[in-house]
Amino acid sequence: MKKAVILAGGMGTRMQPATANINKHLLPVYSQDGAIPMIYYPITSLVKGGIKEILIISSREHCGKIIENLGDGSSFGARFTYKIQDVNNTPLGIASALKLAQGFTGIDPFAVILGDNFFEDDFSIYFKNFNTARFDAAIFLKEVEDPNRFGVYYDNFIEEKPSEPKSNLAVTGLYLYTNIVYQIANNLILSNRGELEITDINNYYCLKKSLHINHVNGFWSDMGTPKSLIATQEFINNSKYSINLEHS
Ligand code: DAU
Repeated sequence: MKKAVILAGGMGTRMQPATANINKHLLPVYSQDGAIPMIYYPITSLVKGGIKEILIISSREHCGKIIENLGDGSSFGARFTYKIQDVNNTPLGIASALKLAQGFTGIDPFAVILGDNFFEDDFSIYFKNFNTARFDAAIFLKEVEDPNRFGVYYDNFIEEKPSEPKSNLAVTGLYLYTNIVYQIANNLILSNRGELEITDINNYYCLKKSLHINHVNGFWSDMGTPKSLIATQEFINNSKYSINLEHS
């Protein structure tokens, strides 16, 4: 697998007022490594895993600042392409943003990672060995204490932010797909909250029994709320994890 997409659009509502004039994914994560913009972590997960061709999708309002900060990707040892999710013309939602990647990924299998997700794990083996003959998609689960904040996997079905979660297995923001995903995304209907949901895509694969379920071993967190961002900083500061900026 050579290509990946980072989804860094959305409104960053849970990080207001800081996100009024800055994209959430540029907010700093403070650690012994410095003040590192949030999006450097998903970039690192991909590059460490051997993926160098990366499409970054962000919102119209703040995309310029993302491009200014990240440039062409060479400082990460990667090649970046950018695309805008303009919510004036496109519905909100992770699956809606994903649809914009079709021209970039073409017929190749690819990874999708959410721009606010932090993973300690190394995914090289998963990126290398994604078995497209057996599976059309792969997800990565992690046990959490607050499953109602996430998509929750139980008995071959994912429930998005359930008020009464049936398990503590959160669906993390890393997904592997083949180009079949665009057919599914094009047939989605808007959810109750007016978004095209990634969970609806993954449930399609559950039904077809073509979803590969994996588990995350190391630390995982989203960084999309003040609390989860602080928890991630605490992890980084108390562990040996270090972002590899040797290309900077
Ligand atoms: O973090 C894992 C969780 O991410 C999953 O367990 C959920 O199933 C999944 O729906 C998602 O939930 P969130 O509520 O955390 O998603 P959020 O709206 O915060 O979006 C996560 C990232 O996706 C965000 O950092 C930017 C990107 N995004 C989001 C939306 C809504 C876009 O690029 N465009 C969008 O329109």
